Order: sequence, then C-alpha cells, then structure tokens
Amino acid sequence: ASYDMGGHDTYMHKEISEQPDAVDRVLRGRIDDRFSTVHLGGLNLDAREARGIRRVKILGCGTSYHAGLIGAGLIESLARIPADSEPASEFRYRNPVVDPDTLYIAVSQSGETYDVLAAVQELKRKGARVLGVVNVVGSAIARETDGGVYVHAGPEVCVVSTKCFTNTVVAFALLALHLGRIRDLSVADGKRIIEGLRRLPSQISEVLESEDEIKKLAAEYADAKSMMFIGRVRGYPVALEASLKLKEISYIHAEAYPASELKHGPLALIEPALPTVAIVPDDELLEKNRAALEEIKARSGRILAVAHQEQEKADHTILVPKNEDELDPILMGIPLQLLAYHTALALGRDIDKPRNLAKSVTVE
Ligand code: AGP
Repeated sequence: ASYDMGGHDTYMHKEISEQPDAVDRVLRGRIDDRFSTVHLGGLNLDAREARGIRRVKILGCGTSYHAGLIGAGLIESLARIPADSEPASEFRYRNPVVDPDTLYIAVSQSGETYDVLAAVQELKRKGARVLGVVNVVGSAIARETDGGVYVHAGPEVCVVSTKCFTNTVVAFALLALHLGRIRDLSVADGKRIIEGLRRLPSQISEVLESEDEIKKLAAEYADAKSMMFIGRVRGYPVALEASLKLKEISYIHAEAYPASELKHGPLALIEPALPTVAIVPDDELLEKNRAALEEIKARSGRILAVAHQEQEKADHTILVPKNEDELDPILMGIPLQLLAYHTALALGRDIDKPRNLAKSVTVE
C-alpha cells in the first residue's frame, strides 16, 4: 500500500500518532446514553441469544491474540461470562471440543490470516456461532463469520500493529459492555465504562506527549541484549504485547511473564544487564506489583515502570493518566509502542518492514 505518510518518517510513527482519532472512530455512533449501553449493528446476536452464552472463546494470532486476551478479561469482568483467548493456530490443531453454548470470536487486523480463517471454517463446519472482530471491511474473515464488530482503525501499513491493537481492545470493551448490559452489569457501571471510553482519545494524546521522554529512555535501554516485561492480570497481556513489539522491530530478545511467576523461575535471570519493564497500575494489585519491583531491585535489576504514580523502586517511571481499572490496559500499552519504536530507531532498524515478517500471513 502507498498512502501519504503525512509528515511522519515511518508508517509506524504515523499509525501510533493516529490513535486518538482511531479510538474516536471505533466509538462513534455506537454509544447509547439512554440505556448506558452500546449499539453494535453488525453483531447479529439478539438479547435472548446473548443471555444464553455460557463461555466465550477468542481466537487470533500475534498481536490480535494479545488483544483477545485483554478482550477476554473485559468480557469476564463486565459481562461475567468465562472467557479466554488462544492462538488460532494452536486451537485448530487440537481437535477442539465445539460447544453450542460457547460464543467464538475471531480477531484479525487483515481479516486474511490463514490460521484464523481455517479455525473459523472448522468451527462453522461443526455448527458453532462465530463472530469477528476485524479491521479490514469485507475481508475473508469478515465474510465467513456470522456477524461481528468492525474495529475501524483505518489502513495499517506498518508490519507491526499498533493502532489496530488499541482499537481492537476498545472494540472488545464495547462488546463486553453490550453483553454486560444485557446480563448483570448495572446502569451505573455501564455509565462508568462509557465515561471512561469517552476519556480515552484525549488521554491517549496526553500519553503521546511523553514521546521525548520515552525517546531518551529508549536510548538508555537500546544496548540491552534482552528485556523482561511483567504485569499482572490486566497488565500481563500488555506486557506480552510490548515484548512482541520490541522483538519484532528492534530484534532485542524479550520475554513477558506474569509478575507473580517471577519467583517460580525467571527471577534467576535478573541482574543489572537484564532490564525489566513493569506494568504497575493503581488498582487492587498495586501492592503486589510493588513487591515484585522490590524483588527485582534486591537483585540489582534495572526497572522501567509504566504506572499511574511514581514508583520508588523503579529507575524510571513513565506516568500515564488513570482511567477505569478495566480500561487502563489500553493506555498502558501506548508508551511501550513508542519505547519499541525509539529503541528500533536508535538501533537503525527498518521499522516498517522488519526482517522475516509479512503484514499478513495468508499461508500456513
Ligand atoms: C503484529 O505486530 C504482528 N506483525 C503479527 O503478530 C500480527 O498481529 C498477526 O500476524 C495477526 O495478523 P492479523 O491481525 O492481520 O490477523
């Protein structure tokens, strides 16, 4: 694709910068203030059917799988339906038990990823109901699914996904709110989430203003051979996605762990040469996350925290504005896109076209 870079040096930078508008687009025309819910025209799922769902299984690859992990958390917390996300490529090879009361959701930016498409076809052949959370309108996955939510991120050219990740998570928040309000989510909680969603575009702009600070940090960490990313519950998929982003464009090895798992093994790796990026939201797990930072500091590990307040144990804290607990992962992911970007830039990488990768993987 060749469309205007609009004054940016790379598509990735352009796409990161577009996020306030992109989020505005996925929300537009969908919020119903009267009933504190949302309208999702393409869902093709009536209220009675929505009440009958006993489980949600989300399928995607790479970044879309990570967005699905946050989506599953949103569906569990707002709609109280057990939900999980799994790589589509694994799911379709384990002869999955297809259950009529499970809602399957295929997630894809391109709508053409072969593993996701093949999983959808296998599910449909077994009589499952499959929805799509897709960016490209009219793509193969959009056509094969029974309905769904368009992500409206606009064209994404850079091989690594940024704005589509963010918009996919917002689309899941809308779906979770919709299902929640049909089930047990109160009007007050619906309103609270809607207000949180409306704050996102300006809060994302605020995060983007820390770019100079993040650029300096990237220069400091660019010499690392490997980096550790940690988070808990809602923060863990943010860590997974940030570590994927760093790997893809900087070629620095990175891994992501739930902070709670450190003591079960990876703590052995911690030393000054292995920096840790920690997701530390002001939520019910704040003290637990702080305890993990202490463990790392006690082993002389360098720490970069993404948090709502300055973290004493961290060498640097990138501050992000607070939203509702459920929506915080959306804002916490954004500085880490910039961190990966500026690290790759400092290392002279080809950011829009990283080696060995294609924008959409249409073969197995
Ligand atoms: C994203 O940065 C990756 N390049 C990759 O993991 C991607 O998310 C994956 O291939 C799935 O693509 P899709 O969303 O178009 O299905």
